[in-house]
Amino acid sequence: MPRKKKDSKEKKESQLIQSAKGVRDLLPEEQPWWRRVREVSEEIADFYNFHRIDTPILERAELFERGVGAGTDIVEKEMYFVKAGKDRLVLRPEGTAPTLRAYLEHGLSSMGQPVKLYYTGSMFRHEQPQAGRYREHHQVGFEILGGEPDPLYDAQAILIGLRLLESLRLKKLVVRLNSIGCRTCRPPYRKKLVDYYRRFEGKLCKDCKRRINANPLRLLDCKNEDCVALKARAPIMMDHLCSSCRNHFKGVLEYLDEVTLSYTLDPYLVRGLDYYNRTVVEFYVEDLNIALGGGGRYDYLGELVSGRRTDLPAVGFSLGMERIIEAMKGQAVGGRGRSKPRVFLIQIGAEAKRKALSLIEKFREANIKVIESLGRGSLKAQLRIADREGVDLALLFGQREVFEGTVIIRDMKNGSQETVPLEKIVDEMKRRL
Ligand code: HAM
Repeated sequence: MPRKKKDSKEKKESQLIQSAKGVRDLLPEEQPWWRRVREVSEEIADFYNFHRIDTPILERAELFERGVGAGTDIVEKEMYFVKAGKDRLVLRPEGTAPTLRAYLEHGLSSMGQPVKLYYTGSMFRHEQPQAGRYREHHQVGFEILGGEPDPLYDAQAILIGLRLLESLRLKKLVVRLNSIGCRTCRPPYRKKLVDYYRRFEGKLCKDCKRRINANPLRLLDCKNEDCVALKARAPIMMDHLCSSCRNHFKGVLEYLDEVTLSYTLDPYLVRGLDYYNRTVVEFYVEDLNIALGGGGRYDYLGELVSGRRTDLPAVGFSLGMERIIEAMKGQAVGGRGRSKPRVFLIQIGAEAKRKALSLIEKFREANIKVIESLGRGSLKAQLRIADREGVDLALLFGQREVFEGTVIIRDMKNGSQETVPLEKIVDEMKRRL
């Protein structure tokens, strides 16, 4: 075979055992962090009375086109379309629109006013992979749907986001806040913003030139040096809020002051999704310049998604789990490992091996974690593994023990052994552990 052809064949074959670009495996060594983030999220959800919801990974593209917005990066260039049948389906890029879709579809308003829902799961965005940016990432999200558009709920959502991060023992957390107004005050502000930027159109980056028409608020979000310089003199939403938006935002800040939650007002915070109104929030770690999470109020999303006039006040946030874990590692905050096994079952001979599984089940019923290496036959090999696992006790179960209906308990620290009748072994272990 010619060398070139051979090389490309080899390359193709080696790609078969490589994950696709921008997605990755979460290997066992990573799992203690994931476990900790999931467990703390559940504890927080439980405490604040949020109900778990799982929505499908596949959704109709239109849900996000209407909800997240046609002019957003997510919808414009990052959605993964799934080719199968006639439906225009995508892998969900975010969890808020699906949660709200499920709320409307199943009439979840009957669960209470408001309904509090939380989720964890994969989101997919076709982004350029880089540090902290993946094509599959995971979020934990909290959404408060229905009820009144009370600023109390905005404050509660912000508080819960911060408490979750604090419970993971993350330090130097920063909450950035802004209000981006409503249907009344945003359009005239947007016009002012566009008028301002039109004067400097020649200096804007390629993306911002497009944003002037498609999504002018995002001009304030651009990281390009020239655009950042222009931003300093741009009009800000805070100066143009209508009285009810101003009062609402004042209310949010007062509630946050009440719980002495410190925040930074950031007049340039606009968020990358269209569905927000009024309060927007992002969570940062001081020394890590990427958002751990974000959210805000989205009172119009119900209407955008259903196409009907619906009065559905809503507010929520979600946190990027990869980014949280990155921050935990950066700050040397540990994960939560698997519970440490304390007992190792050693079996010798075919009869003992046959009975080993049911013996393990007895321990499971008593909630005593027992590990084993059933594939191995030799006593020495199994003892070595028990030693490596650092267990306190080993159970020796051989031909003779099966015959006599006993088990030997071996103390791994001092090597002492005791023979115990099989029917008493669980109680004896309970006593010793
Ligand atoms: P988002 O800001 O697009 O908001 O995403 C939330 C968080 O997910 C981000 O702050 C970031 O930590 C993480 N994230 C986003 N994209 C990536 C990526 N490509 N790789 C790694 N992490 C990423 C939302 O999705 C809204 N649904 C949040 C919300 C909930 N608003 C109201 N409720």
